[in-house]
Amino acid sequence: MIVKYNAKISGTGRYLPEKILTNKDLEKIVDTSDEWIVTRTGMKERRIAADDQAASDLAYEASLQAIQSSPIRSKDIDMIICATISADHAFPSTACIVQQKLGLKNFPAFDISAGCTGWVYAANIAKQYIENGAAENILVIGVETLSKITNYEDRNTCVLFGDGAGATIISRAEAKDISQLIDADISADGTHNELLIQRAGGSRMPASQKTVKENLHTVQMEGNKIFKLAVKSMYQACHTVLKRNHMDMQSIDWLITHQANMRIIQALGNKLKIDEKKVIVNIEKYANTSAATIPIALDEAIRNNKIRHGDIVLLASFGAGLTSGSLLFRL
Ligand code: UT7
Repeated sequence: MIVKYNAKISGTGRYLPEKILTNKDLEKIVDTSDEWIVTRTGMKERRIAADDQAASDLAYEASLQAIQSSPIRSKDIDMIICATISADHAFPSTACIVQQKLGLKNFPAFDISAGCTGWVYAANIAKQYIENGAAENILVIGVETLSKITNYEDRNTCVLFGDGAGATIISRAEAKDISQLIDADISADGTHNELLIQRAGGSRMPASQKTVKENLHTVQMEGNKIFKLAVKSMYQACHTVLKRNHMDMQSIDWLITHQANMRIIQALGNKLKIDEKKVIVNIEKYANTSAATIPIALDEAIRNNKIRHGDIVLLASFGAGLTSGSLLFRL
């Protein structure tokens, strides 16, 4: 590909619903304990969208923040990519609904389904559009309302997920900018597509009374099998971008990984040999918000003055598909 321009992150935002569901609350719903959840996952609480809040509502709030924090105005956006597996509807895309909420039209808006790696996939696509000159300011959203597709009778999954949205503006960098999306790597291994799945509601298993009765519209996961693949695939994705750019972990100021399990984050950190002070973690507050974990953590770390202009950041994620990916950038 011919790279005409560099891409950079020019704004970030997030939105977390008000309602908090704690481990103690979950103890009253399923056979679990605060102790089990904290020691096995690192999670303490998660946010839950209100009954009348859909993915686009969360995404819209995060997008407004991202636009406000960037030098651009809404009218400068020329593409919206929304990563989600819990969209408002199967179609139209949540990106189109966000576009309408922002009062914008006449440019591409579409959703990406890559599970928890969705935002990294979307950011990588945005990077290509900016680099080849086809777009200048892309709104890249990661949003989930997983509580709407979670079975609160299944302790294997219901303790893990939360709702939230993170939004980022990816813009064309100017020649004098030090900020830059340096490299990204995305991949998938479809042989594991059944390990994390919403079985019903699509063309393989259309919605019926039976599918509703059997809870087949909710998230099903073989967590144990995914756990092992997660560390391996994220390590590989990080290794690929570092090697390609002749960099090592010493050059990295911050690592943000998908927030699925504290033990996965620690295992990856150990394998990469990064100082744990450089690893951004917020899993205890928001649990696993799938495609939203990385943009939420990124926005939080920037607003808390942890990640600063000029810092080099490595992002890594994995999720349903199974997908995986990394993104290396200088803020
Ligand atoms: O977001 C992208 C993809 N998802 C992930 O990355 C998730 C990856 N996997 C994980 O994070 C972990 O595998 C889990 C947190 C899901 C599970 O932890 P684990 O240490 O792998 O536990 P396990 O599935 O091996 O289950 C161990 C025991 C089982 O009981 P028995 O069979 O040993 O008696 C489970 O039934 O823990 C039991 N268990 C629970 N106990 C209390 C499972 N869930 C719970 C629970 N509370 N919520």
